[in-house]
Amino acid sequence: MKIIPAESYSNLSEIAALILTEKIKNTNKVVLGMATGGTPTKTYQILADDYKRNKTSYRHVSTFNLDEYIGIDQADRNSYYYYMVENLFKYIDIPREQTHIPSGTAENLEQECKNYEQKIAAHGGIDLQLLGLGSNGHIGFNEPGTAFDTLTHVVDLTKATREANARFFNGIDEVPTQAITMGIASIMKSKEILLLVAGESKSKALDQLLNGKIDPSFPASILRNHPNVTIVADQSAIKHINIPAELLG
Ligand code: F6R
Repeated sequence: MKIIPAESYSNLSEIAALILTEKIKNTNKVVLGMATGGTPTKTYQILADDYKRNKTSYRHVSTFNLDEYIGIDQADRNSYYYYMVENLFKYIDIPREQTHIPSGTAENLEQECKNYEQKIAAHGGIDLQLLGLGSNGHIGFNEPGTAFDTLTHVVDLTKATREANARFFNGIDEVPTQAITMGIASIMKSKEILLLVAGESKSKALDQLLNGKIDPSFPASILRNHPNVTIVADQSAIKHINIPAELLG
């Protein structure tokens, strides 16, 4: 695990976009794991700008998103499908059939979870997984208490997560109560992980990730066991934290 301190959220987003474009340019066939939420939006904006300016091609890229709300149609502006199209996919040349997001409206959700895992495996696994960090330590929608060996599955969202995401809806009552998410084991199988942590509200969670114990009560702690994790964290997220010196490289 290593940490790259960023001066600001903009700087964090530039660093993340650079890591992603280097991977895209230097790999013949690349499978990216994508995250949604507030943290990666500027990274996606920079990738979209880079495509406009430099025509960095995504024709050889496939993507798998971490999660999707249950009961929300793709066309709904709160679906993660809609988020990905509006924030990135519509601006770049990725063939839409190479983008994968679990369906939150599948008739058989258990089957949808199995199919999703199989599709990832059929693509040779994820080369680089982008992650955000929940204030409660969730990664994907793997809430505290999720066993470390879980694959893609259906989850009940905690009150804290629904409250945190209510800002994207017209209030908490509209926030779905369930989601499909890649499991902790699905995430840990990625060859490389890029975790973005921005803002003071994530500081405690980052501290626990780095200095707490590795335990399912704080799902992100498992990342310390992964052989290739880069964390990019901005000043407000790291300023009060004791960062183990070996992580700064
Ligand atoms: C999103 C996801 C979540 C978010 C996390 C942080 O696809 O899986 O784990 O990364 O909730 O969200 P933001 O970036 O909105 O603070």
